[in-house]
Amino acid sequence: MALPGSKAPAFVQAARYVRDPLGFLVRYRKRYGDVFSVRFPFFGRIVYVADPQLVKDVFTGSPAVFHAGEANATMLEPALGPNSVLTLDDEPHLRQRKLLLPPFHGERVRRYGELIEAATRQDMETWPVDEPFALRAHTQRITLAVILRAVFGIRDEARIDRAAKLIDAFSERVTTIVRFPILRRDLGPGSPWRRFVAAREALDAFIYEEVALRRAEAESEKREDVLSLLLRARHEDGSPMSDAELRDELVTVVGAGHETTATGLAWAMERLLRNPQALGRLRESLARGHGDYLEATVKETLRARPVIIDVARKLTAPATIGGHRLPAGSFVVPAIAAVHLRDDLYPDPEQFRPERFFEGKADTYAWIPFGGGIRRCVGAAFAEFEMRIILREFVTRAALRAADPAPEKVKVRNITLAPEHGTRVVLERPLTRPDSDYATPSAAAWASSHSA
Ligand code: HEM
Repeated sequence: MALPGSKAPAFVQAARYVRDPLGFLVRYRKRYGDVFSVRFPFFGRIVYVADPQLVKDVFTGSPAVFHAGEANATMLEPALGPNSVLTLDDEPHLRQRKLLLPPFHGERVRRYGELIEAATRQDMETWPVDEPFALRAHTQRITLAVILRAVFGIRDEARIDRAAKLIDAFSERVTTIVRFPILRRDLGPGSPWRRFVAAREALDAFIYEEVALRRAEAESEKREDVLSLLLRARHEDGSPMSDAELRDELVTVVGAGHETTATGLAWAMERLLRNPQALGRLRESLARGHGDYLEATVKETLRARPVIIDVARKLTAPATIGGHRLPAGSFVVPAIAAVHLRDDLYPDPEQFRPERFFEGKADTYAWIPFGGGIRRCVGAAFAEFEMRIILREFVTRAALRAADPAPEKVKVRNITLAPEHGTRVVLERPLTRPDSDYATPSAAAWASSHSA
């Protein structure tokens, strides 16, 4: 059976995708069905799958056949390196994943609650009053500070600043290299590749320095940051992680963890400010010390505005998906956006309605912002928990309004889909004082009564 899909040239399809990434996938599903193909320059044919049962087949298919690492490496290997959990497959992938999972387990992430709250409060102090600003720049600063403290375990402010600058420079250079594989060669001084390599070397030097400092630190046995936990972790054969492995996993966590969460938060506020009923209900439920509406708000945000919409698998052998025989080498991608916006799964899918998550449990493969199977996002529990803490602080203390009432369009930003203007907001009056500390009963209750 031939695969349905548009006959338009690859660059036209790519332009449609860039112009309206969510609408594009929704339209294609409606027109061509639950399995359809799209052609993109550089990547060739991509087979999208937009039905939860077929998504399950892909996510739970043999990891030896459905290679995620190989698919991710096409874009990310120059940045993340050869030992990254994101770019490996098979046994090497499992080896890294087993060590990386425990520090991000639900129980452990709760220890970072206070630190997340403190980073949020510190940033909120810098918000201007009565003047439009892009909230996304602030959520990115907060999530980066959280990663540097919780994951790298950096405590010294000057080193935090230095790391943040190096990561910013690296992220900026990475964009071009990821987007245009053709530029991945040395075209002389000042070329994108040279600048990228220089930024990568500067960041790597900092990371190796931090690893050496931590190894030398007498107290490191007692520390709970992710780097310290990884230094104590052992592979099944008893060997510790090498410096090169540590470097690749740390860069992976920074790359996968801070921009994604920052964008998710920006979307949460963008949606809430255009849906005053939901915002009112959220405030009300938080005032009563409840966390269920907050949890549903985060879930609804990631449904309606998934931050990442492409989680590819590259076939190492032929496979049949939805009756279509696909040859080895095919890229198969669960169409996260098209699944999340199906009206048979989510009535009125365009509406932002957190309460829909109280009306019945979404099928595991109908809510997939974190991908699935043995490649499901390592930081999912951390990200949801972090979003809840930060959002709670925003909505309980800040009288924000949208700078422009029109909804912000969805725009491709690196590997994420972000609000076009970075969620432009106005803080109408000075922040109220923090009403409760993370440690107070009501705050701690919702944080721990909801699985992180
Ligand atoms: C809202 C925030 C986030 C979103 C939407 C997100 C989404 C995703 C998605 C879609 C994948 C691919 C899953 C697949 O291929 O099936 C992924 C993988 C991954 N994410 Fe996240 N992520 C977020 C935050 C984080 C955070 C905070 C961390 C770390 C602290 C993190 C670490 C990772 C890692 C290490 C992988 C690779 C897993 C593997 O290949 O085995 N992510 N994430």
